[in-house]
Amino acid sequence: MRVLGIETSCDETAASVVALEAGQPPRILSSTVFSQIEEHAAFGGVVPEIAARAHVEALDGIVEAALEDSGVALEDIDAIAATAGPGLVGGLIVGLMTAKAIAAAAGKPLIAINHLEGHALTARLTDGLEFPYLLLLVSGGHTQIVLVKGVGDYQRWATTIDDALGEAFDKTAKMLALPYPGGPNVEKAAQSGDATRFIFPRPMKGSAQPDFSFSGLKTSVRQAATAVAPLSDQDVADICASFQAAVADTLSDRVKRVLARFRAEFPDTAVPALVVAGGVAANKQIRAMLEKLCAKNGFAFIAPPMALCTDNAAMIAWAGIERLRADLVEPDAFDFVPRSRWPLDSVSAPVVGSGRRGAKA
Ligand code: KG4
Ligand code: ZN
Repeated sequence: MRVLGIETSCDETAASVVALEAGQPPRILSSTVFSQIEEHAAFGGVVPEIAARAHVEALDGIVEAALEDSGVALEDIDAIAATAGPGLVGGLIVGLMTAKAIAAAAGKPLIAINHLEGHALTARLTDGLEFPYLLLLVSGGHTQIVLVKGVGDYQRWATTIDDALGEAFDKTAKMLALPYPGGPNVEKAAQSGDATRFIFPRPMKGSAQPDFSFSGLKTSVRQAATAVAPLSDQDVADICASFQAAVADTLSDRVKRVLARFRAEFPDTAVPALVVAGGVAANKQIRAMLEKLCAKNGFAFIAPPMALCTDNAAMIAWAGIERLRADLVEPDAFDFVPRSRWPLDSVSAPVVGSGRRGAKA
């Protein structure tokens, strides 16, 4: 089985070919990612119009490169899988329309993929993980903990009621005049900072509601920054370190609850696992905290390579393969309309206050 995947839901234009042969682990034959970061940097965030235009300009070449790198001719591809949501609708239209055109011209099936499903199934591509397991997705647009029970079978156990965690990092960076994207720069500044100088709130810590909230923390950062302005490099470092400590602390509390819930609901899982995905998973302090928490609670901690944690098309091609072999391909994918909002789990009610925030909300 060989599937061509296309991803255009935010600011990465990506294409990939993934293959699965009987009795062998899956193989990523190619994975091309063009990041638009430079085009958005001057604006301090992703500008949807610029993103959509950049996808139009880049996608043909990226698909061609992915096919060429894979050594597989289009006629030997079994299906085309494309992200159809959630995300910025302009980019989704570009990716899905391109996929429809390729599939129609080549006479291949089309598979419309939920971007979050791509993140959710990546650990099966990289680590052959068995269901069920937990996924912590922490990116610029999403902050969720999802129970992954099977292909197409997901339960959202926690979500943010306001900002995504990556967004909180990006906004903190902006307030401190650090360059975009904020996460890596906040992490770097934090290394020389005193995490005890500012005591920021730990939103939701101890709450029986399992969700996340980061907007109050952001407000506290703004107040601290205003109070000590003009900011020296040391002030910035101390605010970043204190912010990161608050994030790690609140994240640890939230994840701990969910690990306990998994244990209670799936007592027979031999080695329960927590998988991380999303750009924030690159943060060393957060990673170390999660690793320790998992070890303490008897969970395997699975962090796919960074290139597969952040947005890419291999995860979309892989989700296509998973759907093909589970016979879960919608027959009318050619009629599928891109969806800017598309929850993975249609069962969980929306959380009050969770708004359309963030580039990919
Ligand atoms: O998954 P991703 O590349 O794109 C999506 O949003 O889907 O995640 C990007 C987000 C940005 O908000 C960025 O600031 C954050 O991940 N990020 C980090 C780090 N590296 C990237 N946040 C904290 N620490 C980092 N080292
Ligand atoms: Zn993503």
